[in-house]
Amino acid sequence: MRSKELSRRDFLRLVGIGGGAALLNACAPRVLTETVFPPTSTAGMNTAATSGAVDVEIALKAVEGEVQILPGNATRVWRYQAEVLSGPADAVQVIPGSYLGPIFNVKRGQTIRIYFTNELRESSIVHWHGLHVPVEADGHPRLAIESGETYIYEFTVLDRAGTYWYHPHPHGRTGPQAYAGLAGLLLISDDEESGLGLPSGDYDMPIVIQDRRFDNNNQLVYGGNGMMDQMMGFLGDQILINGQIDFSLSVETRPYRLRLLNGSNSRIYKLAWDDGTPLTVLATDGGLLEKPVEREYITLAPAQRVELWVDFSKDEIGSERNLVNLPFDAYGGGSEYQVLPVKVEKDVTVSAPLPETLSNITWQDADKAVNRRSPRDFTLAMGGGMQWSLNGRTFEMNDVAKDEIVKLGDLEVWEFKNQANGGMGMGMMNETLPHPMHVHGLQYQVIEREVDSSGRSAWETLKDGHVDEGWHDTVLVMPGERVKILLKFEDFTGLYLYHCHNLEHEDMGMMRNYRVDA
Ligand code: C2O
Ligand code: CU
Repeated sequence: MRSKELSRRDFLRLVGIGGGAALLNACAPRVLTETVFPPTSTAGMNTAATSGAVDVEIALKAVEGEVQILPGNATRVWRYQAEVLSGPADAVQVIPGSYLGPIFNVKRGQTIRIYFTNELRESSIVHWHGLHVPVEADGHPRLAIESGETYIYEFTVLDRAGTYWYHPHPHGRTGPQAYAGLAGLLLISDDEESGLGLPSGDYDMPIVIQDRRFDNNNQLVYGGNGMMDQMMGFLGDQILINGQIDFSLSVETRPYRLRLLNGSNSRIYKLAWDDGTPLTVLATDGGLLEKPVEREYITLAPAQRVELWVDFSKDEIGSERNLVNLPFDAYGGGSEYQVLPVKVEKDVTVSAPLPETLSNITWQDADKAVNRRSPRDFTLAMGGGMQWSLNGRTFEMNDVAKDEIVKLGDLEVWEFKNQANGGMGMGMMNETLPHPMHVHGLQYQVIEREVDSSGRSAWETLKDGHVDEGWHDTVLVMPGERVKILLKFEDFTGLYLYHCHNLEHEDMGMMRNYRVDA
């Protein structure tokens, strides 16, 4: 059995509950027409743009294509392609041989314009996950464009240095589109970060973790378990790193910065080094921590990022260590399997000490929240019609409820409560699910977790891996758990989203608007 396959037990559990596999896309790629950039006129285009000069201009398109992932037939994928139209050439960095979109490298303070052209045969839109941008640039599903259309994004990079990402966000189709390959990293740097002397260049490695399933012709399989995949979330049986199935990291005996993104649709990882070395964390979703922190293992839910500082200087040449997933007690957590094998191959002597302090952070104070005595709360549960819901509601494209309106400038406490069994009597739903809750348009602080007795034992198997220090845009809420977050609504008014980042749950409607009013 391949080392990166999940255990047989996990696999059987996956295939045992459903029928045959459905091909994601059985059609041949069509001939694409060339689009000329920048367009001479924006007439008839969807745009949030001005006509002024910006620091970086990028043409981005979503296309159908093929990549070699497995030996034999190439795999049909959907992918992002980009080129720099003006600004620094390294603003777009292709990952060779990967279906993943290119890495966008931008600096805090830069103004960015992106011409996104949809060359898929269905509607789509791009969301800049984690970024604090105006609503017109946030990729809300109501802004989705049809095949052949272009949407122009324009925003200033206001966020802290860190690891962010981009992916599609059309309603009901985010799961399949991201699964087909549409996702990429967006890295922000700033002066504070560059002054730290963290490992850079070849020693600063993106590690995008995803799970996929392939049929006998090497084609991606999605939704083969029908309703079950929708209800629970899609799980693959193979782990891919940066879009590659046999990825192994060759390192020198020196420190590295590894930027981990869980780009999976619904799989949660409990990551640890197989030799027991603790993990040193530099950053979370919203950038650098104040100081590095250590964990025995890291819990990484879909959409979450964590940056690790890993020192291989005491490892022997020829030795290996593996980042593995440890078993835990929640959906997808049944077994131990390999995630990232590392081979130590070259001897070097480099002095690159781990900085003691990483960043100066001005925290918000929960006591100053306008609703500190009665947090805005959201119950995550299975609602009527067998749909995951937020306070009993599912997604509505243009509407908000009264209790989903916040005021510009306010600091608020929100509480997500994962109702342990959602009132369901159905046998298969007895395994209640964790929900990674994402809020668009800002970074928040995680200020409190509490779990009830029904959820405690499962919760214990993942709780020590949360890195609640730092800024977050996605937080895992386990069955029976309540998590409080602290959010400040700044700079922009309008309609943003909050939703579960289990993409199958999101597509089913476990997503709502919230509105920031002036
Ligand atoms: Cu990464 Cu609304 O999502
Ligand atoms: Cu969910």
